[in-house]
Amino acid sequence: MNAAVLVSGTGSNLRALIEQVHGREVQIVAVASDRGDAAALGLARDAGIPVRVFAKADFPDRVARDAALADWLLEQGAELVVTAGYMALLDAGFIARFRDRIVNVHPSLLPAFPGVRAIEQAIEAGTRVAGVTVHLVDEGVDTGAIIAQRAIDVPQGISGEELHALLQPIEHELLPQAVRLLAAGAVRRDPANARRLLVGA
Ligand code: GRF
Repeated sequence: MNAAVLVSGTGSNLRALIEQVHGREVQIVAVASDRGDAAALGLARDAGIPVRVFAKADFPDRVARDAALADWLLEQGAELVVTAGYMALLDAGFIARFRDRIVNVHPSLLPAFPGVRAIEQAIEAGTRVAGVTVHLVDEGVDTGAIIAQRAIDVPQGISGEELHALLQPIEHELLPQAVRLLAAGAVRRDPANARRLLVGA
C-alpha cells in the first residue's frame, strides 16, 4: 500500500515508519508539511521520498490549502495518509477524499485530553495513567475511531517533557503497527457499532 506522511516537527514518528514499514508492507510515496523548517523533511529527503511544503501563507485559506495537499498526495499515489506530529487540522473536504484512510498518533488515552497540550493537560489533571492512542481521523479533533492504545503509569512529580519521553517509544511502536494492520486490510468498522473498529485478522 502507498502511504503519505504529514509532519510539522522533529519527525521521530516518520523515522519509525521509515525504519519499520517503508519498503516492506508500505511504500511511503510522499511527505508533506505545513512548515518548511520541519526537521522531519530532512529525514524524508535522506530516504529519497518526495517532499512538499504547504505553508499557510501560500494559500488564501485552509480549504484551498488542503485541496492542493490532497491533490498532490493523490498524484503521488497515496492510498493512506499518516499524520505524524502534523500540527494543522485537516478540513472536511480532505477527510472526505481519504475517508477512513487517515491515521493519527496522539499522546493521550483518548477520548481523554484531545487537542493540543495533551500531555500537559494530563499532568495538570493529576491522572495516574497516561498513554498513546492511534486512531482514524474524522472531522472532529482527535475524535476518530480508535485502532490501538497503550497505557503507562504516571510517575509522581514527572514533568511534561519527561512524560513525553516515556510516551514516544510507545508511539514509535504503535503507529507502525497500526499502519501495517491498515495495509493488511485488518481494520474494519464494527457492523454492530460504526464508532468502533474491529482490529486484527
Ligand atoms: C508526537 O509526540 C505526537 O504524539 C504529537 O506530536 C509529536 C510529534 O513528534 N502529536 P515527531 O515529530 O514524530 O517526533
